[in-house]
Amino acid sequence: MELYATRVLNIPRTSVLLVTLGFFLNGTSSSKCTEEGKWSPDIPACARITCPPPPVPKFALLKDYRPSAGNNSLYQDTVVFKCLPHFAMIGNDTVMCTEQGNWTRLPECLEVKCPFPPRPENGYVNYPAKPVLLYKDKATFGCHETYKLDGPEEAECTKTGTWSFLPTCRESCKLPVKKATVLYQGMRVKIQEQFKNGMMHGDKIHFYCKNKEKKCSYTVEAHCRDGTIEIPSCFKEHSSLAFWKTDASELTPC
Ligand SMILES: *[C@@H]1O[C@H](CO)[C@@H](O)[C@H](O)[C@H]1NC(C)=O
Ligand SMILES: *[C@@H]1O[C@H](CO)[C@@H](O)[C@H](O)[C@H]1NC(C)=O
Ligand SMILES: *[C@@H]1O[C@H](CO)[C@@H](O)[C@H](O)[C@H]1NC(C)=O
Ligand SMILES: *[C@@H]1O[C@H](CO)[C@@H](O)[C@H](O)[C@H]1NC(C)=O
Repeated sequence: MELYATRVLNIPRTSVLLVTLGFFLNGTSSSKCTEEGKWSPDIPACARITCPPPPVPKFALLKDYRPSAGNNSLYQDTVVFKCLPHFAMIGNDTVMCTEQGNWTRLPECLEVKCPFPPRPENGYVNYPAKPVLLYKDKATFGCHETYKLDGPEEAECTKTGTWSFLPTCRESCKLPVKKATVLYQGMRVKIQEQFKNGMMHGDKIHFYCKNKEKKCSYTVEAHCRDGTIEIPSCFKEHSSLAFWKTDASELTPC
């Protein structure tokens, strides 16, 4: 006697059979007790739900496939697919053996091409020397001196056939101030020494400004953005002729 049939409900002269999850009744789901003392039709067999080996989509591989019931898989078993290199997976890489004895929707592996990535102005790009660039291929970018990339150096060809990022080269800033002591990354530096060759895109400095009434100083931030920096209007360049005057950077902070 198999224990797979979990319950038998006795309704006069008829029985309804129920099965545990993962099993099915191979045959009729209800049977009648006849005058001859026999079940009619025959009581069904209780059988495990199995799925045949899953079909492998084009350009895909099965990862670590181990059938758990002879050559078949059992209900709720899963298998995982992988695409061949440079093929992009569309859909779920994991499929499951269903109650119907078939697999959930199989994924697809598609060949995805990306256009050649453009060279950024004032910079360069490198990519594999191949006739076509495919999913997962990489491109690296750089800028000529005094220019700075506004993003990561490396981009990847994505599933959608576009590059993950196409950076541009941002210009550095020429400073319109000849001499000044400023704050740069928390340190006092001389602008004429630190930024002899200009400031790189994205760099930030703090200028010292004077509060004349209170005779103290405060700082105002300036930011180099693609070749442009705005000098705070409160900043006064200290003339070397006015040597008796105290520079804002030498006053106590307000
Ligand atoms: C279901 O029963 C039929 C008839 O007895 C048998 O041939 C078949 O193999 C059974 N199927 C399963 C999945 O056990
Ligand atoms: C599995 O499949 C192989 C090849 O088709 C066959 O020879 C073998 O008998 C099968 N094994 C079982 C347990 O069904
Ligand atoms: C992929 O399928 C598995 C098994 O059917 C499921 O557990 C999982 O949630 C699915 N993943 C996604 C992202 O849909
Ligand atoms: C599985 O089989 C059922 C019943 O035959 C069917 O309705 C369903 O579409 C099938 N599922 C897949 C993913 O083929």
